Amino acid sequence: MHHRLRRRALPFAALAAALLAGCATNAPQDFMKPEGPNAQNIDDLQRFPFYAAGVVGVLVMVAVVYVVWRYRDRGQPIPSQHHSGNLVEFLSIGGSAVLLAAIAVPSFRGIWDLAETDDCKMSVNVSGQQWWWEYAYPQQEGIERPIVTSGQLVIPTGECVLLRITSRDVIHSFWIPKLNGKKDAVPGRVHMLRMEADNPGMYLGQCTEFCGLSHANMKMDLVALRPDDFASWVSMQRVSATEIADVASTPAGRGQEVFENNCARCHQVSGLTDAKGNPQIPAADQSLVSGAAPNLTHLMSRNTFAGATYSLLNEDCRDALMALPPEQFGAKYLAGVDDGCLNVVELKEWLRNAPEKKPMYPDANEDGLGRGMPAMTSLPEGQIDDLVEYLKTLK
Ligand code: CUA
Repeated sequence: MHHRLRRRALPFAALAAALLAGCATNAPQDFMKPEGPNAQNIDDLQRFPFYAAGVVGVLVMVAVVYVVWRYRDRGQPIPSQHHSGNLVEFLSIGGSAVLLAAIAVPSFRGIWDLAETDDCKMSVNVSGQQWWWEYAYPQQEGIERPIVTSGQLVIPTGECVLLRITSRDVIHSFWIPKLNGKKDAVPGRVHMLRMEADNPGMYLGQCTEFCGLSHANMKMDLVALRPDDFASWVSMQRVSATEIADVASTPAGRGQEVFENNCARCHQVSGLTDAKGNPQIPAADQSLVSGAAPNLTHLMSRNTFAGATYSLLNEDCRDALMALPPEQFGAKYLAGVDDGCLNVVELKEWLRNAPEKKPMYPDANEDGLGRGMPAMTSLPEGQIDDLVEYLKTLK
């Protein structure tokens, strides 16, 4: 009997050990460690119900065990059945009501605080699509010209930024656990979400609404920079890419030509011109269900690619960046991805055959539209090399 009990307890002990081990590790998406006022608000709300429910749970279990033991079947006759209407009933109903009220009042206040939209100085339009996020900064104080980027949302620290979240295809959900709760991205609707980070750094998150084949790969990074570093980032993003005039004599020049022939149909690089000297405008709506592909003008200023699924930094450089103290983070982030840190191996694998690195449906459907980046298996290896050289110029 004892043996069997011990064997039954084993899986539960293993589960408890695994859960405790999970708590002990440094988890970048740990919502129990808030790093901004909105997440702190949620954390403050959940602490009291969490402990209160724990105490109530223990009391109920003790009462159940006592009753089961005290009134166990010893062959005694069935006791008389009657309605009690006594103190116990009154106390348990009254106590529950008081407890629920004590939880409800701060909860409502928290919901109102988190729904506040008037006190945010900055706003960013966030669009989800299969399977990446676009961040568009409209013209506003501190941003004289609109900025469009993807993969990494960059905000200043200590300031409320209002995200206006929508979707271009199916329902996604935006979640940076250390900074705020989740918010669904729904086509045809705009949902507001407050974002604020106390300290500079990278805050990781991921799509939390099942959105098709690469839902699990749909990651998002929020990068918080000190206000002066943020201003530097804004002025960097305003600059267009330099078009290489002589495309034949350098690898980067040849790469630019490969880009114009194969990528510019969907991806924008501001500064590129067509044969007539007009700005090259992609027509992603003719190839993709979402009608958009990431703007690559400043690819090397972010440190991820493929919708933040892969790191543009090799493992050592990424670990080093993530381990930097907050006061050193901004300068390192603004320096972008240099040659020695570029994750060339995976970037090339992506360029050769993207659907193999990240499940997508790039082939056209009945409307002639696909989802995600097609494989470019027909490109010779030399052209992939040149393309990488060109992408490196997109600082
Ligand atoms: Cu987007 Cu799940």
